Amino acid sequence: MMPPCIRVLHGPSLNLLGRREPSVYGDRTLREIDALLATEAEALGLTVDCHQSNHEGALIDLIHGALGPCAGILINPGAYAHSSLAIADALRAVSLPAVEVHLSNVHAREPARHRLVVAGACIGVIAGFGALGYALGLRALLPHIQRR
Ligand code: DQA
Repeated sequence: MMPPCIRVLHGPSLNLLGRREPSVYGDRTLREIDALLATEAEALGLTVDCHQSNHEGALIDLIHGALGPCAGILINPGAYAHSSLAIADALRAVSLPAVEVHLSNVHAREPARHRLVVAGACIGVIAGFGALGYALGLRALLPHIQRR
């Protein structure tokens, strides 16, 4: 049996992690975060399939494409978290268990970041724990994918 695969989606500007506002987002690069996720996934009996896009439609296509090959979705929608009904609708459409992650504590930042539009289509949200939040997100998904 193949281990269940989790699709990991990183939204806009997360390709610049490491150099993007390190005081807010930490100094880990996206490649380092994806490597951390692969290690964590292996320990949990999962695999990960990681993608980054700066485009809403591309993220939606990746969500639709998860139906079939993937057992769950771990998503950091970046700024789309605060605005994208289309991403929320795509998550609801595929109905795969999904967890939203933010590196920063969006609730401690500007009021515009307090509104989470995608989160309502997810099981829950992990925010403010930096790169560790991704590993926590995988763990949070585990019981939901095992139930399926
Ligand atoms: C972020 C928080 C968002 O508000 C911001 O637009 C991002 C990164 C985070 O991981 O903390 O791009 O999703």
